[in-house]
Amino acid sequence: MAALVATAETGICARQPVRSRHAMVATREAHSTDIGLAVLESGGNAIDAAVAVGFALAVTHPAAGNIGGGGFLLARFRDGRTTFIDFRERAPEAASRNMYIGPDGKATSDSVVGYRASGVPGTVRGLEFAHEKYGRKRWADLVEPAVRLASNGFPVSYGLARSLRNAAERLAAFPESKRIFLNDGRFCQAGERLVQPELARTLERIRDRGAKDFYEGETARLLAADMQAHGGLITLGDLKNYRVIERTPLTGSYRGYTIVTAPPPSSGGVGILQMLGVLEGSGYEKSGFGSADELHFLAETMRRYFADRSEYMGDPDFYHVPVAALLNPRYIRELRRSIDPEHATPSTTLHPGKLDTIETSDTTHYSIVDAEGNAVAVTYTLNNSFGSAVTATKLGFLLNDEMDDFAAKPGEPNLFGLIQGEANAIQPRKTPLSSMTPTIVLRDGKLYLVLGSPGGPTIINTVLEVLVNVIDFGMNIADAVDAPRLHHQWMPDVLRMERGFSPDTIALLKARGHTVEIEDHQGEVAAIRLQDECLEGDADPRTDGTARGY
Ligand code: DON
Repeated sequence: MAALVATAETGICARQPVRSRHAMVATREAHSTDIGLAVLESGGNAIDAAVAVGFALAVTHPAAGNIGGGGFLLARFRDGRTTFIDFRERAPEAASRNMYIGPDGKATSDSVVGYRASGVPGTVRGLEFAHEKYGRKRWADLVEPAVRLASNGFPVSYGLARSLRNAAERLAAFPESKRIFLNDGRFCQAGERLVQPELARTLERIRDRGAKDFYEGETARLLAADMQAHGGLITLGDLKNYRVIERTPLTGSYRGYTIVTAPPPSSGGVGILQMLGVLEGSGYEKSGFGSADELHFLAETMRRYFADRSEYMGDPDFYHVPVAALLNPRYIRELRRSIDPEHATPSTTLHPGKLDTIETSDTTHYSIVDAEGNAVAVTYTLNNSFGSAVTATKLGFLLNDEMDDFAAKPGEPNLFGLIQGEANAIQPRKTPLSSMTPTIVLRDGKLYLVLGSPGGPTIINTVLEVLVNVIDFGMNIADAVDAPRLHHQWMPDVLRMERGFSPDTIALLKARGHTVEIEDHQGEVAAIRLQDECLEGDADPRTDGTARGY
């Protein structure tokens, strides 16, 4: 059997991960990693660390870390219990199906920028829910490090300085965003301190009064007033009614490993399990990592799932998502059989209609394992980099533009060319479909891998690729994360490949009928693997991230 090809054979055993004995934190920003580690070292569990990291990233990684957005937390506890905390944004009560369609019948930009783009944020209530039910340390002690980072400031990294500059046009349209994040137009240089006093005050209230302040207290009042003054939809009632939903994770298996992953309203877990199902038993790995045969089979597998995704996935509380049918072994066998090993299947012949394109935006993922063996994987987001670009007046935090994850106009492309179906149409209180895929893998019933990534639809394929790099190609976690990635999402019928694949391989893929586009960067994985009684951690070298343990 070609499984577990030795790393020496793959020729890409290039980098050692961070290793530690007891516990590990991997995030995409160094201060946040350190804060998470300090929580673990002082007796907190993985949930406590996840709460502290969530608030810290809201200060140090404003493109995606947030209190004005939402996300998913997947946990597996040392006794084997698992949970999935859905704290994603919900559509405000006043949202309506056609709210982003202009008088000319076309989708407007309101779903991606400005006050009308935001769903009701879930992060603060989500972190509090996780803490109350599963945490151990005092809430205030978990929020306090973020308060300090916001009020004392922290040195801006090269990566943050660059991402702020890249977002300058969007941020400059909103005075509070311009003042705080663009230094009033003078820009933050790498190494300068970014101090956020308004955010510090907001975090202090959250520290002292809990999520109640954000949803019913002073923060809620200021946010609702700001929304009202600028034509936004979120009201005090929406904030007060925000509910976290605790869901059962989706579970499946791959070559004897157990995969615990994100259920709807994520489209990621169904995707991972369907695609692993297609790969298992196909022998796709026999030609070796990075070979044209392997990449072709992977791309064809992705193409098929994304065709299903565009049609069938939405909020399960509003729409019947046919999870069992999509994962039915007979159906998966048909998908596998439909792959021609020599030729790309043109997407137009695969399934009529609906398409979906890459979101060029930002989200963040972090992974934590504590000394008791509890594991937490969190992916949370504002959607676009810096969300809707709006910083709430007097509150100092950016608001999400998650409403754009709905189908703004079902059946027709929105601003980014996204076409999605009725399943994901806008309705009050509904959750927009997500691709975020925090995932945990077990081997022989024991914790083995914790991972996730940002990247819109590419998240699903990024997580899949890191999984198979470890399971099928025997890579350590650093090599598995480093390895170049590819992405196919059915429509547009394009195979996106990161730099780093061999030109010969690319030529072979083109000869099979793939339209290849080369791109710089797909995903930002933060992953932990338990191997040989040791934790291996890695934060994607595509970012400023760090992994640290003890
Ligand atoms: O939930 C989703 O699928 C999107 N809002 C995620 C956006 C994202 O990952 C952007 N990241 N680079």
